[in-house]
Amino acid sequence: MQMKLFVNGKEVEVPTSAMEKRIVEFLREDLDLTGAKNACDVGACGACTILVNDEPSRICIKLVKDFGGQRILTIEGMAAPDGTLHPLQQAFLDCGAIQCGYCTPGMVLTAHAFLLKTPHPTRAQIRHAIVKNLCRCTGYQQIIDAVEKAAPHYHREERRLQAASTSEKPAHEDTEETTG
Ligand code: FES
Ligand code: FES
Repeated sequence: MQMKLFVNGKEVEVPTSAMEKRIVEFLREDLDLTGAKNACDVGACGACTILVNDEPSRICIKLVKDFGGQRILTIEGMAAPDGTLHPLQQAFLDCGAIQCGYCTPGMVLTAHAFLLKTPHPTRAQIRHAIVKNLCRCTGYQQIIDAVEKAAPHYHREERRLQAASTSEKPAHEDTEETTG
C-alpha cells in the first residue's frame, strides 16, 4: 500500500522509490518546499526544523518512511492561501529578526509550536524555547522580540478555541461540571 503524508493540509502520496530518501530532500526536491534547510546535516542547528503533529522535528537525519500518515507543517504552510503572512512571520519582519534568513523557517516553526502551547510566555521562556536553534546573524534579541510581539495572536486563538469547545460541549457535560 502506498504511504501518505499530510503536508501543509494536503495529502501527498509517496512513491516507493522515495521511501528511503531523507525527508528534508524529499520536501525540497520532490515537493519544491525549500524552506527547510539542510545546514549541519547532523541534527545540531535547527535549520531543517518542521512541525510534525505540531511538534518540532529536525528532519536532516530522518527518512521519509518514518513519517507515514503524519501531519507535517513547513514554513510554506504558515501563510494564508492569499499569501498574507502569519502574524508570527509578520512579527519576525517587523522586529528585524531576519537577516540572512537561513535559520528563519526553523526558528519560526519552533516558535510557533512553542506559542501554541505557551501563549503567554515570559522572555526567559521564549529564550529557552529557541535555544537549540542556532542563528549566526541576529544575536537573538530581535527573534525574542518577534515571538513576544506575536504572542497576543495566540492568546486570541486560545480564547477562540476555548469558546468553540465550550459551545460544542453537550449540555449534559456542562451540567456535570457545575453539579460536580
Ligand atoms: S540541518 Fe538539521 S539540525 Fe542542522
Ligand atoms: S538570520 Fe542568519 S542565521 Fe539567523
